[in-house]
Amino acid sequence: MTQQNWTPDSWRLRPAKQLPVYADQDKLRAAEARLAKLPPLVFAGEARRLKKKLGKVAMGEGFLFQGGDCAESFTEFSANNIRDMFRLILQIAVVLTFGGGTPVVKIGRMAGQFAKPRSDDTETRNGVSLPSYRGDIVNGLDFTPEARQSDPERMIQVYNQSASTLNLLRAFAQGGYADLHEVNRWNLESVENNLQGERYRALANRIGETLNFMAACNITAETSAQIRETDLFTSHEALLLPYEQAMTRIDSTSGDWYDVSAHMLWIGDRTRQLDGAHVEFMRGVKNPLGLKCGPTTNPDELLRLIDVLNPANEAGRLTLIARMGSDKIKQHLPPLLRAVKKAGRTVVWCSDPMHGNTQMAGTGYKTRSFDRILSEARDFFSICNAEGVHAGGIHLEMTGQEVTECTGGVSAVTEAALGERYETHCDPRLNATQALELAFLVADHLKSERKASSAA
Ligand code: PEP
Ligand code: CO
Repeated sequence: MTQQNWTPDSWRLRPAKQLPVYADQDKLRAAEARLAKLPPLVFAGEARRLKKKLGKVAMGEGFLFQGGDCAESFTEFSANNIRDMFRLILQIAVVLTFGGGTPVVKIGRMAGQFAKPRSDDTETRNGVSLPSYRGDIVNGLDFTPEARQSDPERMIQVYNQSASTLNLLRAFAQGGYADLHEVNRWNLESVENNLQGERYRALANRIGETLNFMAACNITAETSAQIRETDLFTSHEALLLPYEQAMTRIDSTSGDWYDVSAHMLWIGDRTRQLDGAHVEFMRGVKNPLGLKCGPTTNPDELLRLIDVLNPANEAGRLTLIARMGSDKIKQHLPPLLRAVKKAGRTVVWCSDPMHGNTQMAGTGYKTRSFDRILSEARDFFSICNAEGVHAGGIHLEMTGQEVTECTGGVSAVTEAALGERYETHCDPRLNATQALELAFLVADHLKSERKASSAA
């Protein structure tokens, strides 16, 4: 039954978690109608290209890097922030490609990552209860009744901000900024003078030598688009279904439905109910999909979700993003890997070492310890190796700014220092130095995985 009668609005008949209540339904419908007429943000052909690339990763050839803010916001929207995130993604991709010796598919949590699931519908401060902040696409962060009111107009603002973010990303990716000859210039000022910056510079110098050698063989930026430009895809959690539905269109080339708000969309850990609205919506769009798998995911349930989301077992359609927590991954990941492998399901296995490791610091800041993040990432690789499954990707919350939101790392952010630059609108992000440190660790694992498979 689940497999029939999909329409862009069939999710409306299913129980939906995490959706805001809009006081003015007419205003909501008017905003949806306006959105439905606006041009696509991405093109179906691009989503198909990404699916093909992810299909290779699913077959063991390549690695997925997905990263960006926990939540984009209206206040932090600036060309410099977009540029810095783009640079950090490029840097990490270079570390993984060159250091790890494997092709890397890059997906930003960008140009649409605005909606946040919350553990509670309300937030209480000093005896006053207001609706929780659900991301700038729904309401405002300020703790006032006006700001916390859900406003459908915000969806239009998200569309506009996503369109201009994408415009800049496309220019960066194809307009010369991503040319491999610029590899030294991607180092962010904030990491210039620390150990990770030095490691990066050493790697960039080796790439420079390789490019000189290739130029001598007549392979240059003029002759090869791979040197001159790059592909950066976009993604977000498909949480706010009225927005996603309004952005869902039939692709004239294939006749299939695509959600043109991003190339890839994922289902969060709180909204992955088999009979729920989010799974119902996502099964009908042809984009590549992600599914977060937390410690409460059980193997049977996961197989049923895979049947619904990827009935044709198409490589690249589904990426499973494990977010277990450093203390739970050893117990909860292996049964999932085994069940999926035994059932012959082709998926990309990706690690999100962030969301299972969120804690409250004594000082009241929501934080994550860098050691626990590293530990979950390390365990992900060794568990995949032990199970004979390709460790296919890593998913990070990070920023190009040198914030103090996660504790630890070479720059040693202490709990006491969290308040110095705590700027996130939602979860604590890795700063550029911490993200690079993690990238070098992942590159080492990729290298040893390659060595092991070429020796076998
Ligand atoms: C997220 O990726 O921002 C998120 C909320 O993740 P999860 O659904 O895994 O908790
Ligand atoms: Co988050």
